[in-house]
Amino acid sequence: MKLETKRLTLRDWTKRDISDLIEGLNNYNVSKWLALVPHPYTKKDAQEWINYCRQNAKSKNRGYYFAIELKSEKKVIGGIDINKINKFHGIGGGGFWVNAKYHRQGYGAEALAAKIDFAFNKLKLRRLESGFFKGNKPSLNLQKKFGYKVEGLRRKGFKCKADGKLKDEYITALLRNDWKKPRLGKLAILYKKDTPR
Ligand SMILES: CC(C)(COP(=O)(O)OP(=O)(O)OC[C@H]1O[C@@H](n2cnc3c(N)ncnc32)[C@H](O)[C@@H]1OP(=O)(O)O)[C@@H](O)C(=O)NCCC(=O)NCCS
Repeated sequence: MKLETKRLTLRDWTKRDISDLIEGLNNYNVSKWLALVPHPYTKKDAQEWINYCRQNAKSKNRGYYFAIELKSEKKVIGGIDINKINKFHGIGGGGFWVNAKYHRQGYGAEALAAKIDFAFNKLKLRRLESGFFKGNKPSLNLQKKFGYKVEGLRRKGFKCKADGKLKDEYITALLRNDWKKPRLGKLAILYKKDTPR
């Protein structure tokens, strides 16, 4: 599956993305906000992630793990996913990150807009669950822009792989009915079936 926005393509991970993935995630200022990303982030870690995503894409109860490719540079600058999908309950989860060199240029918002649109309009989910570690204001602000609400605090809910510290996690969710669509410039989201790369 491929989603396209004005500046980004959200698509499956491939082995060619290994160096971009390492560049993006081998940065403690990114991984300290993520639960399962070790630091340093090695080639082996990147290979394992890509293998995991490729296996997942073949499975019946698949999640959607998208590499965020910047069209102008043909470079992967982040990742975003929809996981733990439960069609019966209409629920999905997932996280996101952007390479620190590309922060504050609207790419996180553009990718999240595409994910939400896909989850609600194509997968027909009605509730998207997320969260953020205490102190992660960029993530909170980004989620709030789209109507996510904080629902609670999981005290010491995670042991962060990057630094081994126990971290408090605020849990958040977006209900379809609360979905806000911030103006992001001209944002065309197109859906494409898997195309071989
Ligand atoms: C959170 C993250 C994905 C945001 O990506 P980004 O591409 O820099 O975000 P955008 O430029 O699209 O900004 C969108 C909104 O997010 C919020 N935001 C982003 N960076 C922010 C910052 N440094 N401080 C405060 N708010 C911020 C703002 O509301 C912003 O909207 P605005 O520009 O209209 O003010 C990025 O900071 C990141 O990868 N962080 C590390 C990993 C992470 O925290 N992932 C989420 C785990 S829960």
